[in-house]
Amino acid sequence: MQLRRRYAVRVRQAVEADARALAEVHVASWNDTYRGLIPDAAIDARTVDRREMHWIRTLSDLEQRIGVKTAEVDGWVVGFLHVGPTRSPALGFSHELYAIYVHPDYLYGGVGRMLMSTVGTLVAPLGMTSLFAWVLRENHPARRFYESLGGVVVDERVEEMDGAALMEVAYGYNDLDDLLAQACR
Ligand SMILES: CC(C)(COP(=O)(O)OP(=O)(O)OC[C@H]1O[C@@H](n2cnc3c(N)ncnc32)[C@H](O)[C@@H]1OP(=O)(O)O)[C@@H](O)C(=O)NCCC(=O)NCCS
Repeated sequence: MQLRRRYAVRVRQAVEADARALAEVHVASWNDTYRGLIPDAAIDARTVDRREMHWIRTLSDLEQRIGVKTAEVDGWVVGFLHVGPTRSPALGFSHELYAIYVHPDYLYGGVGRMLMSTVGTLVAPLGMTSLFAWVLRENHPARRFYESLGGVVVDERVEEMDGAALMEVAYGYNDLDDLLAQACR
């Protein structure tokens, strides 16, 4: 049986100076989560330096930065989420959870739930009315996470990555009040 821990988590708006820390969490999580699920080449190409450039670009754009939240435990960045306008408008959701990542050392300790409990603060600044997320079909812990927040599967697709065909499913949240209630449980 997996021992559950509960961390004292502080979630705050990301700032430009978070770029390196977000890149470190991002790369550690990719290595831990996706090895065996997606081609090694795609994982190995995600270096901390490259991800840091991505985060510098994202965080220096105010409109994008508004949708990025950082989770800290004992002053260390251990997770983040990134929400923005939908990239799959046909699904009918106003906004998309582009990414949510918790450092492998802090998984299943309430950090992800705490991050999601703050999406209410994005409703007004982003004009968000609903939310969805794509997740790899075989990423079972993440799917359990989305389901625990009341998400329902609303679509499936095949994504090509380094020659591999990856199945993804979309979890949708039409009722943001319900999502927040589930996240704050
Ligand atoms: C998905 C992720 C963000 C969840 O964050 P987390 O801090 O580990 O999750 P929490 O501890 O807040 O768990 C919240 C709920 O999710 C579910 N859950 C989370 N991890 C789980 C696991 N390993 N097994 C089963 N259920 C799990 C549980 O229902 C849990 O509810 P509970 O607290 O009532 O038991 C985190 O696991 C992660 O970063 N995974 C790797 C990256 C990833 O897959 N991101 C999603 C990409 S689409």
